Amino acid sequence: MIKKIDVSNLKPTMFIHDINCPWIDHPFLRDSFLVESDNDIEKIASYGIRQVYIDTQRGPDMPDAPSAEDVHRQLDSKMQYLGQTLKRPAPLVPAEKERVQAKQICREASRIVHNVLQDCRLGKQVELEQVEPVVSSITDSIFRNPDAMVSLLRIKQADKYTFQHSVAVGTLLISFCRALDIDRKTIERVGLGGLLHDIGKMQVPKQILNKPGKLSEAEFAIMKNHVRYGCETLEKTPGISPIALSVAAEHHECYDGSGYPRGLKGDQISLYGQLASVVDVYDAMTSTRIYHVGIEPTEVLRKLLEWSDHHFNVQLVHHFIRSIGIYPLGSLVRLESGYLAVVVEQHHENLLHPKVRAVFDSQTRHSIPPRDVDLTMPGSNDRILSFEVPARWGIDMQRYI
Ligand SMILES: [Fe+2]
Repeated sequence: MIKKIDVSNLKPTMFIHDINCPWIDHPFLRDSFLVESDNDIEKIASYGIRQVYIDTQRGPDMPDAPSAEDVHRQLDSKMQYLGQTLKRPAPLVPAEKERVQAKQICREASRIVHNVLQDCRLGKQVELEQVEPVVSSITDSIFRNPDAMVSLLRIKQADKYTFQHSVAVGTLLISFCRALDIDRKTIERVGLGGLLHDIGKMQVPKQILNKPGKLSEAEFAIMKNHVRYGCETLEKTPGISPIALSVAAEHHECYDGSGYPRGLKGDQISLYGQLASVVDVYDAMTSTRIYHVGIEPTEVLRKLLEWSDHHFNVQLVHHFIRSIGIYPLGSLVRLESGYLAVVVEQHHENLLHPKVRAVFDSQTRHSIPPRDVDLTMPGSNDRILSFEVPARWGIDMQRYI
Protein backbone atom coordinates (compact mmCIF):
# COMPACT_ATOMS: atom_id res chain seq x y z
CA MET A 1 0.00 0.00 0.00
CA ILE A 2 1.13 3.55 -0.67
CA LYS A 3 1.07 5.71 2.47
CA LYS A 4 1.95 9.28 3.31
CA ILE A 5 4.32 9.83 6.24
CA ASP A 6 6.26 12.73 7.78
CA VAL A 7 9.95 12.82 6.92
CA SER A 8 10.59 12.78 10.70
CA ASN A 9 9.16 9.20 10.74
CA LEU A 10 11.22 8.02 7.78
CA LYS A 11 13.62 5.15 8.53
CA PRO A 12 16.38 3.45 6.54
CA THR A 13 15.03 0.43 4.55
CA MET A 14 11.71 2.20 3.91
CA PHE A 15 10.92 2.53 0.21
CA ILE A 16 10.00 5.99 -1.03
CA HIS A 17 7.33 5.71 -3.71
CA ASP A 18 7.10 9.46 -4.32
CA ILE A 19 9.44 12.02 -2.82
CA ASN A 20 6.56 14.53 -3.01
CA CYS A 21 8.89 17.41 -3.84
CA PRO A 22 7.57 20.61 -5.47
CA TRP A 23 10.89 21.31 -7.19
CA ILE A 24 11.46 19.45 -10.45
CA ASP A 25 15.14 20.37 -10.32
CA HIS A 26 15.73 18.58 -7.03
CA PRO A 27 19.03 16.66 -6.91
CA PHE A 28 17.58 13.19 -6.25
CA LEU A 29 18.14 10.89 -9.17
CA ARG A 30 14.65 9.45 -9.07
CA ASP A 31 11.36 10.28 -7.37
CA SER A 32 11.18 6.74 -5.92
CA PHE A 33 14.06 4.92 -4.19
CA LEU A 34 15.10 2.84 -1.19
CA VAL A 35 16.22 4.83 1.86
CA GLU A 36 19.66 3.41 2.59
CA SER A 37 20.89 5.50 5.50
CA ASP A 38 20.18 8.35 7.93
CA ASN A 39 22.24 10.42 5.54
CA ASP A 40 19.54 10.02 2.87
CA ILE A 41 16.89 11.18 5.35
CA GLU A 42 18.94 14.24 6.34
CA LYS A 43 19.39 15.09 2.68
CA ILE A 44 15.64 14.81 2.01
CA ALA A 45 14.86 17.06 5.00
CA SER A 46 17.53 19.57 3.96
CA TYR A 47 15.65 20.16 0.69
CA GLY A 48 12.56 21.26 2.61
CA ILE A 49 10.60 18.06 1.95
CA ARG A 50 8.23 17.49 4.91
CA GLN A 51 6.19 14.47 3.83
CA VAL A 52 6.80 11.60 1.42
CA TYR A 53 4.82 8.62 0.11
CA ILE A 54 6.18 5.17 0.99
CA ASP A 55 5.42 1.79 -0.59
CA THR A 56 4.75 -0.65 2.27
CA GLN A 57 5.09 -3.65 -0.05
CA ARG A 58 8.69 -2.77 -0.81
CA GLY A 59 9.73 -1.72 2.72
CA PRO A 60 8.56 -1.31 6.33
CA ASP A 61 5.05 -0.01 7.06
CA MET A 62 3.87 2.79 9.32
CA PRO A 63 0.53 1.48 10.56
CA ASP A 64 -1.13 4.78 11.58
CA ALA A 65 -0.17 6.70 8.43
CA PRO A 66 -2.96 7.62 5.97
CA SER A 67 -3.08 5.82 2.65
CA ALA A 68 -2.45 7.75 -0.59
CA GLU A 69 -6.08 7.01 -1.50
CA ASP A 70 -7.32 8.69 1.70
CA VAL A 71 -5.12 11.72 1.00
CA HIS A 72 -6.38 11.92 -2.61
CA ARG A 73 -9.99 11.62 -1.49
CA GLN A 74 -9.53 14.49 0.98
CA LEU A 75 -7.85 16.66 -1.61
CA ASP A 76 -10.56 15.87 -4.17
CA SER A 77 -13.28 16.93 -1.77
CA LYS A 78 -11.35 20.17 -1.03
CA MET A 79 -11.14 20.78 -4.79
CA GLN A 80 -14.87 20.12 -5.19
CA TYR A 81 -15.61 22.55 -2.35
CA LEU A 82 -13.41 25.22 -3.93
CA GLY A 83 -15.09 24.59 -7.29
CA GLN A 84 -18.49 25.22 -5.73
CA THR A 85 -17.52 28.33 -3.80
CA LEU A 86 -14.95 30.20 -5.90
CA LYS A 87 -16.08 32.63 -8.58
CA ARG A 88 -13.93 34.16 -11.32
CA PRO A 89 -14.21 37.59 -12.94
CA ALA A 90 -16.52 37.43 -15.98
CA PRO A 91 -14.56 37.38 -19.29
CA LEU A 92 -15.22 40.11 -21.86
CA VAL A 93 -14.97 37.80 -24.91
CA PRO A 94 -15.22 34.01 -25.42
CA ALA A 95 -11.91 32.12 -25.14
CA GLU A 96 -12.14 30.70 -28.68
CA LYS A 97 -12.33 34.23 -30.10
CA GLU A 98 -9.48 35.52 -27.93
CA ARG A 99 -7.20 32.62 -28.87
CA VAL A 100 -6.56 34.08 -32.32
CA GLN A 101 -5.06 37.25 -30.85
CA ALA A 102 -3.50 35.41 -27.92
CA LYS A 103 -1.47 33.21 -30.32
CA GLN A 104 0.09 36.30 -31.90
CA ILE A 105 0.82 37.90 -28.53
CA CYS A 106 2.35 34.65 -27.31
CA ARG A 107 4.66 34.42 -30.35
CA GLU A 108 5.74 38.05 -29.98
CA ALA A 109 6.32 37.65 -26.23
CA SER A 110 8.51 34.56 -26.81
CA ARG A 111 10.53 36.43 -29.46
CA ILE A 112 11.12 39.49 -27.27
CA VAL A 113 11.94 37.52 -24.11
CA HIS A 114 14.30 35.31 -26.16
CA ASN A 115 16.12 38.43 -27.47
CA VAL A 116 16.33 40.12 -24.07
CA LEU A 117 17.67 36.99 -22.38
CA GLN A 118 20.18 36.33 -25.18
CA ASP A 119 21.38 39.96 -24.95
CA CYS A 120 21.86 39.45 -21.24
CA ARG A 121 24.01 36.37 -21.97
CA LEU A 122 26.18 38.65 -24.11
CA GLY A 123 26.52 41.07 -21.20
CA LYS A 124 24.15 43.73 -22.58
CA GLN A 125 21.84 45.72 -20.35
CA VAL A 126 18.11 44.92 -20.22
CA GLU A 127 16.07 47.50 -22.12
CA LEU A 128 12.69 47.72 -20.44
CA GLU A 129 11.23 49.60 -23.45
CA GLN A 130 11.41 46.29 -25.34
CA VAL A 131 9.56 44.30 -22.69
CA GLU A 132 6.92 46.75 -21.45
CA PRO A 133 4.71 46.74 -24.61
CA VAL A 134 4.62 42.93 -24.50
CA VAL A 135 3.53 42.98 -20.85
CA SER A 136 0.80 45.43 -21.79
CA SER A 137 -0.46 43.22 -24.67
CA ILE A 138 -0.51 40.13 -22.44
CA THR A 139 -2.43 42.07 -19.77
CA ASP A 140 -4.99 43.22 -22.37
CA SER A 141 -5.51 39.63 -23.49
CA ILE A 142 -5.84 38.37 -19.89
CA PHE A 143 -8.45 41.06 -19.17
CA ARG A 144 -10.44 40.05 -22.27
CA ASN A 145 -10.29 36.36 -21.39
CA PRO A 146 -7.54 34.86 -19.16
CA ASP A 147 -7.98 31.29 -20.42
CA ALA A 148 -6.95 31.95 -24.03
CA MET A 149 -3.30 32.92 -23.34
CA VAL A 150 -2.93 30.52 -20.42
CA SER A 151 -4.06 27.52 -22.51
CA LEU A 152 -1.30 28.19 -25.07
CA LEU A 153 1.55 28.11 -22.60
CA ARG A 154 1.90 24.44 -21.73
CA ILE A 155 3.60 23.42 -24.94
CA LYS A 156 7.33 24.01 -24.70
CA GLN A 157 10.27 23.00 -26.85
CA ALA A 158 13.31 21.62 -25.05
CA ASP A 159 15.75 24.17 -26.49
CA LYS A 160 13.42 27.08 -25.76
CA TYR A 161 12.31 26.02 -22.29
CA THR A 162 13.77 28.96 -20.34
CA PHE A 163 12.19 31.56 -22.67
CA GLN A 164 8.82 29.86 -22.88
CA HIS A 165 8.74 29.24 -19.11
CA SER A 166 9.46 32.96 -18.60
CA VAL A 167 6.51 33.96 -20.81
CA ALA A 168 4.29 31.44 -19.03
CA VAL A 169 5.26 32.68 -15.55
CA GLY A 170 4.70 36.33 -16.57
CA THR A 171 1.29 35.52 -18.06
CA LEU A 172 0.12 33.32 -15.18
CA LEU A 173 1.19 36.04 -12.73
CA ILE A 174 -0.85 38.64 -14.61
CA SER A 175 -3.88 36.36 -14.52
CA PHE A 176 -3.30 35.62 -10.81
CA CYS A 177 -3.05 39.35 -9.96
CA ARG A 178 -6.22 40.09 -11.91
CA ALA A 179 -8.08 37.46 -9.91
CA LEU A 180 -6.80 39.20 -6.75
CA ASP A 181 -8.18 42.56 -7.97
CA ILE A 182 -4.74 44.17 -7.99
CA ASP A 183 -4.55 47.48 -9.88
CA ARG A 184 -3.40 47.42 -13.49
CA LYS A 185 -0.15 49.36 -12.95
CA THR A 186 0.96 46.92 -10.27
CA ILE A 187 -0.17 43.95 -12.38
CA GLU A 188 2.12 45.06 -15.21
CA ARG A 189 5.06 45.42 -12.83
CA VAL A 190 4.48 41.92 -11.50
CA GLY A 191 4.10 40.61 -15.08
CA LEU A 192 7.38 42.22 -16.11
CA GLY A 193 9.07 40.62 -13.11
CA GLY A 194 7.61 37.29 -14.25
CA LEU A 195 8.96 37.63 -17.80
CA LEU A 196 12.43 38.37 -16.40
CA HIS A 197 12.35 36.24 -13.23
CA ASP A 198 14.86 33.66 -14.54
CA ILE A 199 17.15 36.11 -16.36
CA GLY A 200 19.97 35.01 -14.03
CA LYS A 201 19.89 31.59 -15.75
CA MET A 202 21.73 33.24 -18.65
CA GLN A 203 24.81 33.29 -16.41
CA VAL A 204 24.51 29.62 -15.51
CA PRO A 205 26.79 27.47 -17.72
CA LYS A 206 24.79 26.12 -20.69
CA GLN A 207 25.77 22.51 -20.00
CA ILE A 208 24.04 22.77 -16.61
CA LEU A 209 21.08 24.87 -17.78
CA ASN A 210 20.27 22.54 -20.69
CA LYS A 211 21.48 19.28 -19.19
CA PRO A 212 19.27 16.50 -20.58
CA GLY A 213 18.88 14.81 -17.21
CA LYS A 214 18.85 15.34 -13.47
CA LEU A 215 21.36 17.77 -11.97
CA SER A 216 23.96 16.52 -9.51
CA GLU A 217 24.10 18.15 -6.08
CA ALA A 218 27.02 20.34 -7.17
CA GLU A 219 25.22 21.35 -10.38
CA PHE A 220 22.05 22.11 -8.44
CA ALA A 221 24.06 24.41 -6.13
CA ILE A 222 25.36 26.27 -9.20
CA MET A 223 21.85 26.46 -10.69
CA LYS A 224 20.55 28.07 -7.49
CA ASN A 225 22.87 31.02 -8.11
CA HIS A 226 20.57 32.14 -10.93
CA VAL A 227 18.47 34.07 -8.40
CA ARG A 228 21.44 36.13 -7.23
CA TYR A 229 22.70 36.67 -10.80
CA GLY A 230 19.21 37.77 -11.86
CA CYS A 231 18.93 40.30 -9.04
CA GLU A 232 22.35 41.74 -9.90
CA THR A 233 21.30 42.16 -13.54
CA LEU A 234 17.91 43.67 -12.77
CA GLU A 235 19.24 46.04 -10.09
CA LYS A 236 21.41 47.58 -12.82
CA THR A 237 18.39 48.02 -15.12
CA PRO A 238 17.23 51.65 -15.31
CA GLY A 239 13.54 52.08 -14.45
CA ILE A 240 12.96 48.62 -12.97
CA SER A 241 10.36 48.64 -10.19
CA PRO A 242 10.93 47.14 -6.71
CA ILE A 243 7.88 44.92 -7.39
CA ALA A 244 9.50 43.33 -10.47
CA LEU A 245 12.71 42.92 -8.48
CA SER A 246 10.95 41.12 -5.64
CA VAL A 247 9.38 38.66 -8.13
CA ALA A 248 12.84 37.73 -9.40
CA ALA A 249 14.48 37.78 -5.95
CA GLU A 250 11.85 35.68 -4.16
CA HIS A 251 10.43 33.23 -6.71
CA HIS A 252 12.26 30.30 -5.05
CA GLU A 253 11.51 31.32 -1.46
CA CYS A 254 9.09 29.09 0.37
CA TYR A 255 6.36 29.91 2.90
CA ASP A 256 7.87 27.58 5.53
CA GLY A 257 11.39 29.02 5.15
CA SER A 258 12.78 26.05 3.19
CA GLY A 259 13.36 27.98 -0.04
CA TYR A 260 16.36 29.86 -1.37
CA PRO A 261 18.42 32.03 -1.57
CA ARG A 262 17.52 33.71 1.74
CA GLY A 263 15.29 31.13 3.44
CA LEU A 264 12.62 33.78 4.08
CA LYS A 265 9.52 32.65 5.94
CA GLY A 266 5.80 33.57 5.75
CA ASP A 267 5.20 37.27 5.32
CA GLN A 268 8.92 37.99 5.20
CA ILE A 269 8.33 37.09 1.55
CA SER A 270 6.51 39.88 -0.31
CA LEU A 271 3.06 39.14 -1.74
CA TYR A 272 4.59 39.23 -5.24
CA GLY A 273 7.31 36.75 -4.30
CA GLN A 274 4.67 34.43 -2.85
CA LEU A 275 2.57 34.61 -6.03
CA ALA A 276 5.67 33.92 -8.14
CA SER A 277 6.65 30.84 -6.13
CA VAL A 278 3.21 29.25 -6.70
CA VAL A 279 3.19 30.08 -10.41
CA ASP A 280 6.79 28.94 -10.99
CA VAL A 281 6.07 25.48 -9.55
CA TYR A 282 2.73 25.19 -11.41
CA ASP A 283 4.29 25.94 -14.79
CA ALA A 284 7.35 23.74 -14.23
CA MET A 285 5.19 20.78 -13.22
CA THR A 286 2.65 21.08 -16.04
CA SER A 287 5.37 21.42 -18.71
CA THR A 288 7.03 18.51 -20.47
CA ARG A 289 10.82 18.62 -20.39
CA ILE A 290 13.47 16.10 -21.34
CA TYR A 291 13.40 14.42 -17.94
CA HIS A 292 9.89 15.31 -16.82
CA VAL A 293 6.58 14.46 -18.44
CA GLY A 294 4.16 17.34 -17.88
CA ILE A 295 1.47 16.58 -15.31
CA GLU A 296 -2.17 17.45 -16.00
CA PRO A 297 -3.13 20.93 -14.67
CA THR A 298 -5.92 19.65 -12.39
CA GLU A 299 -3.49 17.16 -10.81
CA VAL A 300 -0.90 19.92 -10.27
CA LEU A 301 -3.53 22.17 -8.65
CA ARG A 302 -4.32 19.31 -6.28
CA LYS A 303 -0.60 18.98 -5.48
CA LEU A 304 -0.34 22.74 -4.81
CA LEU A 305 -3.23 22.38 -2.39
CA GLU A 306 -1.43 19.47 -0.70
CA TRP A 307 1.83 21.43 -0.46
CA SER A 308 0.07 24.50 0.91
CA ASP A 309 0.22 22.71 4.29
CA HIS A 310 3.86 23.86 4.35
CA HIS A 311 5.34 25.28 1.18
CA PHE A 312 2.77 27.85 0.07
CA ASN A 313 0.31 30.31 1.55
CA VAL A 314 -2.94 28.34 1.48
CA GLN A 315 -5.16 31.37 0.81
CA LEU A 316 -3.05 32.30 -2.20
CA VAL A 317 -3.24 28.74 -3.55
CA HIS A 318 -7.05 29.00 -3.36
CA HIS A 319 -6.90 32.26 -5.31
CA PHE A 320 -4.56 30.69 -7.86
CA ILE A 321 -7.02 27.83 -8.38
CA ARG A 322 -9.69 30.49 -8.85
CA SER A 323 -7.57 32.26 -11.49
CA ILE A 324 -6.92 29.00 -13.41
CA GLY A 325 -10.20 27.14 -12.79
CA ILE A 326 -10.56 23.57 -11.52
CA TYR A 327 -10.50 22.17 -15.09
CA PRO A 328 -8.36 24.66 -17.05
CA LEU A 329 -9.11 25.26 -20.72
CA GLY A 330 -7.65 22.45 -22.83
CA SER A 331 -7.93 19.83 -20.05
CA LEU A 332 -9.28 16.38 -20.88
CA VAL A 333 -12.12 15.23 -18.60
CA ARG A 334 -14.22 12.08 -18.27
CA LEU A 335 -17.97 12.60 -18.25
CA GLU A 336 -20.50 10.46 -16.41
CA SER A 337 -21.85 9.39 -19.82
CA GLY A 338 -18.50 7.71 -20.56
CA TYR A 339 -17.35 10.27 -23.10
CA LEU A 340 -13.98 11.98 -22.82
CA ALA A 341 -14.21 15.70 -23.49
CA VAL A 342 -11.93 18.71 -23.88
CA VAL A 343 -12.70 21.82 -21.81
CA VAL A 344 -13.32 24.62 -24.34
CA GLU A 345 -14.83 27.38 -22.18
CA GLN A 346 -14.92 27.80 -18.42
CA HIS A 347 -17.96 29.14 -16.65
CA HIS A 348 -16.82 32.02 -14.44
CA GLU A 349 -19.41 31.32 -11.74
CA ASN A 350 -19.39 27.55 -11.88
CA LEU A 351 -15.88 26.08 -12.04
CA LEU A 352 -17.11 22.48 -11.94
CA HIS A 353 -19.36 22.77 -15.01
CA PRO A 354 -17.46 24.21 -17.97
CA LYS A 355 -18.43 23.99 -21.63
CA VAL A 356 -16.77 20.86 -23.07
CA ARG A 357 -16.28 19.16 -26.43
CA ALA A 358 -16.90 15.40 -26.30
CA VAL A 359 -14.33 13.75 -28.62
CA PHE A 360 -13.86 10.13 -27.51
CA ASP A 361 -15.96 7.23 -26.27
CA SER A 362 -14.15 5.57 -23.35
CA GLN A 363 -16.23 2.39 -23.68
CA THR A 364 -15.54 1.70 -27.37
CA ARG A 365 -12.11 3.45 -27.15
CA HIS A 366 -12.85 5.26 -30.39
CA SER A 367 -12.95 8.91 -31.41
CA ILE A 368 -16.41 10.35 -32.02
CA PRO A 369 -17.43 13.37 -34.12
CA PRO A 370 -16.76 16.36 -31.79
CA ARG A 371 -19.90 17.50 -29.98
CA ASP A 372 -20.14 20.56 -27.70
CA VAL A 373 -21.89 20.18 -24.36
CA ASP A 374 -22.57 23.07 -21.98
CA LEU A 375 -22.60 21.40 -18.56
CA THR A 376 -24.25 24.43 -16.93
CA MET A 377 -27.36 24.17 -19.13
CA PRO A 378 -30.43 22.92 -17.22
CA GLY A 379 -31.05 20.21 -19.85
CA SER A 380 -27.54 18.78 -19.53
CA ASN A 381 -27.69 15.51 -17.61
CA ASP A 382 -23.96 14.94 -17.84
CA ARG A 383 -21.23 15.93 -15.37
CA ILE A 384 -17.46 15.66 -14.97
CA LEU A 385 -16.26 12.64 -13.02
CA SER A 386 -12.51 13.26 -13.21
CA PHE A 387 -9.65 14.68 -15.25
CA GLU A 388 -7.90 12.31 -17.66
CA VAL A 389 -4.38 12.00 -19.05
CA PRO A 390 -4.64 12.35 -22.89
CA ALA A 391 -1.59 10.13 -23.59
CA ARG A 392 -3.28 7.23 -21.79
CA TRP A 393 -6.01 7.29 -24.47
CA GLY A 394 -3.76 8.22 -27.39
CA ILE A 395 -5.58 11.53 -27.79
CA ASP A 396 -3.75 14.43 -29.44
CA MET A 397 -5.19 17.49 -27.70
CA GLN A 398 -3.82 19.84 -30.36
CA ARG A 399 -6.50 18.53 -32.72
CA TYR A 400 -9.29 19.82 -30.55
CA ILE A 401 -8.18 23.15 -29.09
FE1 LIG B 1 14.02 30.19 -11.15
